[in-house]
Amino acid sequence: MARRLLIIDDDADFAVSMSRALALEGVGCRIAPDGATAWAMLESEPVDVVLIDIRLRAEDGTELAARLCARHPGLVMVIMTAYASVDSAIAALKAGAYDYLRKPFFLDELMRALQRCFQLVDLRAAMARAERELALMRQIEATSQLAAGLSHDFRNMLAVVRANLAVIAERLPPGDSLQPYAGDALEAAVTAGDLVTRLMGFARQPSRPPELQDMRLPVRTAAAMLARTLCAGMRIDCDLPDAPLLVAVDAGGIGTAVVNLLINARDATEGRGRVRLTLRHVWRGGDYARLTVEDDGPGFDPGGLERALEPLFTTKSEGTGLGLPMIQQLALLSGGEFRIGNAEGGGARAVLDLPCLPPGTAPGQGPGENM
Ligand SMILES: Nc1ncnc2c1ncn2[C@@H]1O[C@H](COP(=O)(O)OP(=O)(O)OP(=O)(O)O)[C@@H](O)[C@H]1O
Ligand SMILES: [Mg+2]
Repeated sequence: MARRLLIIDDDADFAVSMSRALALEGVGCRIAPDGATAWAMLESEPVDVVLIDIRLRAEDGTELAARLCARHPGLVMVIMTAYASVDSAIAALKAGAYDYLRKPFFLDELMRALQRCFQLVDLRAAMARAERELALMRQIEATSQLAAGLSHDFRNMLAVVRANLAVIAERLPPGDSLQPYAGDALEAAVTAGDLVTRLMGFARQPSRPPELQDMRLPVRTAAAMLARTLCAGMRIDCDLPDAPLLVAVDAGGIGTAVVNLLINARDATEGRGRVRLTLRHVWRGGDYARLTVEDDGPGFDPGGLERALEPLFTTKSEGTGLGLPMIQQLALLSGGEFRIGNAEGGGARAVLDLPCLPPGTAPGQGPGENM
C-alpha cells in the first residue's frame, strides 16, 4: 500500500531531496513550507504521517504540531530539528509527536522512524475495523434476539390466519364480490409468512459446523432460479471456476446471499439491468473463495453505503433491510469478510470472501488430510 507523508519544512532543497529519496522507498510525499499550507493540505487530503521541522522561519513547529494534533486527533507526527536538546524533545512529545529526529539524519534512520509510524497507523486501522465489526455483530445479535422472540409466536398466529383465509376463499361462491378481498388478504398473509421465515433465518445461529461443499453449486442454483423467476428481465453473467471450491459454509446461507444480492441488483436496475457474478479462489494470507456481484445500476448513494450493513436499514418502501446484514452475519460467522461499495465505472459491487480449502483438494478430503 502506498504511504502518504506530509513534510512541513521551509528548507525547500532539503524537503525536495528527502521526498525524492522517500519516493524510491514507496513513500509519496507532499511538501508544505509553512503551517498555513500544511493546514490546508491536511484539510483537503488525509496523510498517514507528518514530518515537521521544529524551527520554521515564521512560526514555532512545536506549537504548530500541537495545533495540528488538536485539529486531527490521532495524527502521527515525527518532529525533526537541527537544534536538538532534551527540552525541545520533551516539548515535541508533549505536543503530540510520536517520534523525534535530530538533523542531519541518514535515510535509513528516517525510514526506521517512519516504519514505526506506519506500523502504528496500520495497527490503529486494524483496531478501528475490528471495533466496527464488533459493533455490527452486536447490532446483528440484538436484532436476531428480537427477531427470534417475535417471529416464533408471530408465525404460529399467521398460520392460523392463513388457514382460515384459505377456507373462506375456498367456500366463497365463484364470482362472489368478496373473492378479491379474500384473495388479497391471503396473498398478504403468505408474504408476511415469507418475511417471518426470513427473520427466523436471520435469528438462527448454526448449531453445528456445516459440512464441506462445493460453493459453485449453491451459487449456480440460486442464480439459475432467479434468472427464471424474479430476475427474468435481467442479464445475469455467471463466471464460475472449472474446479470445485470447497467451503465449510451452509449451502442455504450461500444461496440466500446470492438471492439477496441479485434481488438488490434487480431493484437497483428496475429489473432490466445486467449483473456479473464471479466466483474465484483468492489468496489473502489463507485460501478464500471470493464471490463478486456487480451490477450496472446507479450504485450505493454515499449515505446509504455507510449504513447499508446495519440491520433494518433500507431505502425501499417494501424493504426489510435484512438482506445485506444477513450476508455480513454469514461472513463473520464463517471467518470470512463481506464488503460493499461502488465500482469505478458506477454500479454497486459486493464482495463475499469465505475461507475455503486449497484448490485441488478432493471433495471427500478434509482440511487435516490435505497437509
Ligand atoms: N445493488 C445495489 N445498488 C444500490 N443500492 C443498493 C444495492 N444493494 C443494496 N442497496 C442499498 O442498501 C440498502 C440495504 O440493502 P438490504 O439488501 O440490506 O435491504 P433491502 O434490499 O432494502 O431490503 P431486503 O431486506 O428486502 O433485502 C437498500 O435499501 C439499498 O438502499
Ligand atoms: Mg435487499
